[in-house]
Amino acid sequence: MNRMSPQLTVLLVIFSLHCYMSDMAMASDPDPLQDFCIPNTKWGYGRAARLDTIPCKNSSEATTDDFVFSGLKKPAETFSDMGIAAVSVTPQMFPGLNTLGMSFVRADIQVGGINAPHFHPRATEITYVLQGKVYSGFVDSTNRVFAAVIEQGEVMVFPRGLVHFQMNVGESPATVFGCFNSQNPGAQKIPSAIFGSEIKDELLEKAFGMTPKQIDKMRRKFVPKG
Ligand SMILES: *[C@@H]1O[C@H](CO)[C@@H](O)[C@H](O)[C@H]1NC(C)=O
Repeated sequence: MNRMSPQLTVLLVIFSLHCYMSDMAMASDPDPLQDFCIPNTKWGYGRAARLDTIPCKNSSEATTDDFVFSGLKKPAETFSDMGIAAVSVTPQMFPGLNTLGMSFVRADIQVGGINAPHFHPRATEITYVLQGKVYSGFVDSTNRVFAAVIEQGEVMVFPRGLVHFQMNVGESPATVFGCFNSQNPGAQKIPSAIFGSEIKDELLEKAFGMTPKQIDKMRRKFVPKG
């Protein structure tokens, strides 16, 4: 066998780099074709079947206010029974974000409170601790857990689509800021996706080795409220 010529090696490297880079481009929100796209509220989000078909306002009608959001100064008003209050900021609330491929969340967690295991099907998340001590982690697709207690000023990244969780292990309220590389990351909470959905009881009994009574108890706890 001949050794591969240096020219061929260089070509192969360039080719694989090219594939790698085009993969990266395909894996994110589409690149905008204009500076920004403030949704035209005359059309609204309600009537558009797809987020990417919402018409933009004429850019001459955009204002600075479209690019400033003041709704994260305080925690959300109501804490869940898990001790967390979250405000997810989407382009519906913050028009300037639209089409930029990102969004964010503020979450306040009471002492001992948790952000139950969940995942975002369309985004990687960076979580930044503004105050407090937070046990944070994720589980990879081999069920390995990567978790640590992170404190004020520290950051952790949760790769896209992987189950992750947080718990306030400090002695004071914690505040975290999460940033997503999608304007519509989506969120599926594991407990409610399983027990708050309409999967047949029989299947859940077999999957979890639980009795009908235990399933019923979990259903009552996780069925969506309101
Ligand atoms: C946007 O607004 C400007 C200024 O009013 C106007 O000249 C332009 O024709 C508008 N563009 C479109 C596509 O309507």
